[in-house]
Amino acid sequence: MLRDPEKHVMEKAYARWAPVYDVLCGPVFLNGRRAAARAARDVGGRILEIGVGTGLSFDDYDGSTEITGIDISEPMIARARLRAASGRYPFVKGLAVMDAHNLRYDEASFDCVVGQFVITLVEDPERVLSECARVVKPGGQIILVNHLYSERGLAAAIERLLAQKARALGLRPEFPFARLAAWAQSHGGAELIERRKVPPFGVYTLVRFRRVDQQREAA
Ligand SMILES: C[S@@+](CC[C@H](N)C(=O)[O-])C[C@H]1O[C@@H](n2cnc3c(N)ncnc32)[C@H](O)[C@@H]1O
Repeated sequence: MLRDPEKHVMEKAYARWAPVYDVLCGPVFLNGRRAAARAARDVGGRILEIGVGTGLSFDDYDGSTEITGIDISEPMIARARLRAASGRYPFVKGLAVMDAHNLRYDEASFDCVVGQFVITLVEDPERVLSECARVVKPGGQIILVNHLYSERGLAAAIERLLAQKARALGLRPEFPFARLAAWAQSHGGAELIERRKVPPFGVYTLVRFRRVDQQREAA
C-alpha cells in the first residue's frame, strides 16, 4: 500500500481539476452524491460537508437542511461560492476554505457530517474522522461515500496497479473499508450503522456512523 496522500499533492491536483471538475467528474460521482445526500436529508438539520468541492451536491439538498461546506482547495470552493450566489440554494449557509484535519467549529455543532469522495484523499483519515465525530452532535451521523478498495480479484489488482499514477491526479483507488471500521473501534465514540454498495453498479460504498450518545446510553 502507498502512504496516505500529502496535503500539497491534493491542493495541486484540485487546483487543476477545478475548471473541468463539473463536466468530467460530475456525472461519474452522481449516484454516490445522491445516495449520501439522501441519507443526510433523513437526518436533517445542520449538515457539514467536508471536501464540498464545487458544490455539485447542492442540487441534492433542500430547505429541510442547512448546509455548511468546507474544502482545502480555494479554486474548488470559489466555484461552490459562484454556484451558491445563483440564489438557488438558500439553505447553503456557509462555505469556507478549511482543512478537514482542523475543523474550526465547536464540539457538537452539526447534526450530520458528510464526506463525499474525500476521506480516501486526506493525509490522515483517522484524524479527519475524529474531527467529524467531535463536531457532530451525540446521536448525529457521519456519512461517507467513496469508491473503496476491492481487496480481492482482478479489480483489486488493477486498483493496486493504478494507485501510484492516480495519486498525482488526486484520486485513490486502494483505500480499504477496514480502516474506517478500525477507526470506529479505536475511537469508541462512533458506531458503524450501515455499509452498503450504491446501486446501480455498486462501484461506490455508502458508510454511516452514529455518534454515540453517552448520556442516553447511561440513562
Ligand atoms: C473528489 S473531490 C469531491 C468533491 C465533492 N465532494 C464531490 O463529490 O463532487 C475531493 C475534494 O476533497 C477536497 N479535499 C482534499 N483534501 C482535503 C482536506 N484535507 N480538507 C478539506 N477538503 C479536502 C479536494 O480539494 C476536493 O475538492
